[in-house]
Amino acid sequence: MTDPRSTTRRDAIKLGLLAGAGLAVGRRVPLLGEMPTRAQEILTRPIPGTDERLPVVGVGTNQWGARGEEEIAPLREIVRSMTEHGARFIDTARIYGRGRAEEVIGQILRELDAHDDVFIATKVPTPETRDAGVVSLEACMTALGVDRVAALRVHFLDGVEILLPILREWKEAGRARYIGVTTMSEEQYPELERLIREESLDTIEIDYSVLDRAVAERILPLAADHGLSVVVARPFAGRRGGVFSLVGDRPLPDFASEIGATSWAQLCLKYIIANPAVTVVIPGTDDPEHMIDNMGAGRGELPDADLRRRIEGIFDELGG
Ligand SMILES: NC(=O)c1ccc[n+]([C@@H]2O[C@H](COP(=O)([O-])OP(=O)(O)OC[C@H]3O[C@@H](n4cnc5c(N)ncnc54)[C@H](OP(=O)(O)O)[C@@H]3O)[C@@H](O)[C@H]2O)c1
Repeated sequence: MTDPRSTTRRDAIKLGLLAGAGLAVGRRVPLLGEMPTRAQEILTRPIPGTDERLPVVGVGTNQWGARGEEEIAPLREIVRSMTEHGARFIDTARIYGRGRAEEVIGQILRELDAHDDVFIATKVPTPETRDAGVVSLEACMTALGVDRVAALRVHFLDGVEILLPILREWKEAGRARYIGVTTMSEEQYPELERLIREESLDTIEIDYSVLDRAVAERILPLAADHGLSVVVARPFAGRRGGVFSLVGDRPLPDFASEIGATSWAQLCLKYIIANPAVTVVIPGTDDPEHMIDNMGAGRGELPDADLRRRIEGIFDELGG
């Protein structure tokens, strides 16, 4: 049952932060047309084999090593605006933010009383032993301030034989609804394919962008065939040398308006979301304004095959 006191506190926190949101965001007030409204819900995709649906845009937190209120405030604003506009997926890992990210997320969720509004997916690094794996998993939960999360994944594939059995036990015990693996390395794709075929995974996380399309050919169709949800990381091809350094200050192509894309970020995210095997895309950001921009990619039209080829053509010409 909901504690009426906590509801009051929760509303007060949300209203207070909402009132301060313009100041907290600060850098540019989004134009009225850019502001998501409830009438323009973010597109959702089903998690295969379940009744659960996920809004297609989430957030990646590998930079969330914030210390002190000044650094935490924009991250809190990101989570607040996600919950305000219906986005839910927060991707994290034991090692993100130099080991701080889970703790930062835990603090923010406590402050916003928002644990029930988000979908937390974390990752555990390869342990030397089974005991070390369990210690790592418990450390994730303690840092996040929870006793269960939505998804637990093996971070990188080495040592998967130690961790996967533990993740299965944790799923059995109700401490995670979904388990899986993540990799960003093309060299590991053959092993990833084997795991998708042979292990009963629920989810994978891979890198996919208009600049890195390797997974589109085999991994994405295979994941779809096996009923796995797919989380797309590094949608801008990473923090350095990614799509933004290629496009610079070039104007958007005219066709962007046909699909309601008002920024290069939205165009690149829509390119990814248009692949039906994709469940959720998790652009990394610590900028609330960028979060608003990214959520915009989950609204309006998506590019068809012809437009997707034209988007690829632009980046091929730019030398991506
Ligand atoms: N499983 C794995 O092994 C693995 C590996 C790498 C990443 N990941 C996950 O994937 C997430 C995303 O990857 P990533 O952060 O490395 O790369 P990314 O999402 O491709 O790019 C992040 C970069 O894009 C910028 N950005 C974000 N939104 C923007 C916008 N609307 N306009 C302009 N710039 C924007 C960010 O800067 P600002 O901060 O200034 O917005 C940051 O520099 C990570 O946070 C992590 O959760 C997983």
